[in-house]
Amino acid sequence: MPAERLHVLRTIRTAVFPAAGLGTRFLPATKVIPKEMLPLVDKPIIQYGVEEAVAAGIEHVVLVTGQGKRAIEDHFAVDTNLQRLLKARGRTDLLAEIQSLPRPTSVTTVQQGEPLGLGHAVLVARKLVSDEAFAVVLSDDVIDANPPAVRQLISVYEKLGDPVVAVERMPADQINNYGVVSAEPVADEDGVYRIRGMVEKPSKEDAPSDLAIIGRYILTPDIFPILDSITCNAGDEIQLTDGLQRLLAHRPIYACEIDGVRHDTGSKIGFLRATAYFALKRPDLSEAFREYLRTLGTATPTGD
Ligand code: G1P
Repeated sequence: MPAERLHVLRTIRTAVFPAAGLGTRFLPATKVIPKEMLPLVDKPIIQYGVEEAVAAGIEHVVLVTGQGKRAIEDHFAVDTNLQRLLKARGRTDLLAEIQSLPRPTSVTTVQQGEPLGLGHAVLVARKLVSDEAFAVVLSDDVIDANPPAVRQLISVYEKLGDPVVAVERMPADQINNYGVVSAEPVADEDGVYRIRGMVEKPSKEDAPSDLAIIGRYILTPDIFPILDSITCNAGDEIQLTDGLQRLLAHRPIYACEIDGVRHDTGSKIGFLRATAYFALKRPDLSEAFREYLRTLGTATPTGD
């Protein structure tokens, strides 16, 4: 097959965003508002992921949502009423800002029904990704990177033609929160590893390495029949890591260390750090916010 044709086939056009989780760690904030809609400064968490995907060349976004997640779908719909209102009030600055937001060509929603785990969330997107490789973005992991994290994975996929997962070196006391890979470096590819095995949330004693999977994947459609065949295990959920471990018997899978800054906004401390990080990056806020942080020092605010 001519190299040009291969390149076309390897282009990734669709990204799946699993977003059906209940967000219990952020109750009561998430009683009515989906956790994906909590803002980091003034932008919902999931929008960071969608903008990253669009900047990486993704055209179609598939949101895998559940009950009470309507706000996510609404957020990505074009709001003609809001635009009309802003125009009528002469707020052309805000209007221009809204209109300049990076948008995918299409946003489709599919309901997960029962929350049966990440593997299950990916499986319910099956019909919408057709017969092409696709990206998966776990929006809890907000990654500030240039090129965008999804783009870094796509580049590896375009070169090697097999599934790729994003990894980060994790301290031993945090490794039990992640899927962990055992892998060996690929010659002449900096930060790229060939995976030999992977395990979901091992104890630090059982972890095969310090390379933890972070929430970005390039997957191929042969993952679907495998996920379909997995009976529920690991806490009654279908784990994507287990599906990928099985796929390893049939084809290589690669890990790519992401060059960038990642925040786990699924934890409270990670959410706070991300808020501070993005506020400090904002030209309109950084000076005042930095000054405020300085006044806080190590003192505990008392409110008086
Ligand atoms: C999921 C995956 C896990 C991965 C993690 C990255 O876990 O199952 O393999 O390391 O995302 O954030 P979760 O955080 O949904 O429990």
